[in-house]
Amino acid sequence: MTGQLRRGEGFFRESGVAGFTHRAFTKSMGLDDDDLRRPLIGICNTFSELNNCHRHFRELCEAVKRGVLQAGGTPLEFPTISLGEIFLSPTSMLHRNLAAMDTEEMIRSQPLDGVVLLASCDKTTPAALMGAASADLPAILVSGGPMLNGNFRGETLGACTDCRRLTAEHRAGTLDDATYQAIEDGIVRSAGHCMVMGTASTMNSLTEALGVALPGNGAIPAVDSRRMRLAQAAGRRIVAMVSEGLRPSRILTRAAFENAIVLLSALGGSTNAVVHLPAIAGRCGVELPLELFDEISARTPLLANLRPVGAYQMEELFYAGGIPSVLRELLPLLHGDQLTVTGRTLAENVATAEPADGQVIRPLSDPLQDHGGLAILRGNLAPDGAVIKHAAASPELLRHRGRALVFTDLHDLRRRIDDLELDVRVDDILVLQNAGPLGGPGMPEVGNFPIPRRLLQQGVRDMVRISDARMSGTAYGTIVLHVAPESAAGGPLAFVRTGDEIELDVERRRLQLCVDDAELARRRAAWRPPAPAYARGYGRLFLDHVQQAPLGCDFDFLRGRDPVRLDDQAKF
Ligand code: FES
Repeated sequence: MTGQLRRGEGFFRESGVAGFTHRAFTKSMGLDDDDLRRPLIGICNTFSELNNCHRHFRELCEAVKRGVLQAGGTPLEFPTISLGEIFLSPTSMLHRNLAAMDTEEMIRSQPLDGVVLLASCDKTTPAALMGAASADLPAILVSGGPMLNGNFRGETLGACTDCRRLTAEHRAGTLDDATYQAIEDGIVRSAGHCMVMGTASTMNSLTEALGVALPGNGAIPAVDSRRMRLAQAAGRRIVAMVSEGLRPSRILTRAAFENAIVLLSALGGSTNAVVHLPAIAGRCGVELPLELFDEISARTPLLANLRPVGAYQMEELFYAGGIPSVLRELLPLLHGDQLTVTGRTLAENVATAEPADGQVIRPLSDPLQDHGGLAILRGNLAPDGAVIKHAAASPELLRHRGRALVFTDLHDLRRRIDDLELDVRVDDILVLQNAGPLGGPGMPEVGNFPIPRRLLQQGVRDMVRISDARMSGTAYGTIVLHVAPESAAGGPLAFVRTGDEIELDVERRRLQLCVDDAELARRRAAWRPPAPAYARGYGRLFLDHVQQAPLGCDFDFLRGRDPVRLDDQAKF
């Protein structure tokens, strides 16, 4: 900061009654003139008792405050909306943009010089980054960290990959009620976010590749004391970032996002990153076309042996060196010269990281597979693209032609999926309509919808499933997601009928509805959009402005850089 007052300084040094009240009311909290002269560091705390993943955030926040004080700043904690994946209906994705707006506006509106963002559960990390990118005040993200491994009678369990696997066994009648209930008591046994490479682990790991978090942020377990020390270090570092003027706009470049996609591929990370990264990038004026994910995934080897694709979980990843070790191994594929919140480059950050252990983290010379396992599909069924995590799919289904069995929405699915008279064959392709951003509403994580009970009882555990929904990063199967345009927006998915043939060919990146153009045109002419899910309130705002999945489902009016610089914003 050269010659210009910091935002906090300007706020307290104002003349007349404005400055008088700013100082007097702030002093009412016990702060003195010395505190008011220091950089004001906001700590954006998403603690909530309706978010189990964040239940340790009060303690984490205290650690950040200690760091800020040690470095000569004044910490001021403030709350923003907390999105607990388990508690929110109809889906936390509906509220991600609301949380991003809350974060942006609270940073924008208060006299802060820098901010530490506490986030962790699935949508909170992308929301915090979207808001902070738009506000463009020096910012550093501290994640809550993953849970410890779940455990049942000595067997390691993962939330929520095993929630699904074991529920399928319970539905099939191969797991009794008492065992199923006992597992429930041991699968989620600590604070922190889900501990497989699901969406939360993915997004919090990617913060290291993006350069918006300190090295180690991705994998230190929530309850490990090193997580608190990292939070304290972040508190110290944000004060220095304020004096260096190190803002997100200097860090979140196109190259940083490419680094994030390389890491996503090497981790076998969540398909949800294909929605969240374009949304964050869109706030920075960076375009991330879907084909970039396909291209980077195709050339990036899978190094992390992590569930749901591999064998281990976040706790083992941490013991093996964590994300810095993965990034060190990936350096030949990364833009190592990218600036990060440490004030150093990405390559410098990971120079002393542990080498790959060969088990949890494979070396570049001996990967688990030679590609990252995400593919983008196109065809007359998905003109604007669809996503498949083929690393977590059944290899024999990656090229498949079958009869469509269509569920028109989630209600229809729930009504019929357990019907033992359902006309369904093992080689059918299951289609779910109206589960996208508009239709869901909010693009819920239902793309990995259940196998019909009739087939489940015959031992079938995977089928091709196609929808405009998302799926949890902890899920697996031959599942085509994010079909765009979605059916509720009049995309071709809306015109599929039971009995149509569909062809999936992942190697050729094709998703084709085998119905001739004239018939499709007739169906299109007869199609009527479903009634909107909301007539008022935030839901109405969402339906009026949400964009399709390839643009990250952000609101149209939130994309792009703000022409008004934060420092120029007037106060009345
Ligand atoms: Fe929070 Fe899974 S419930 S990350």
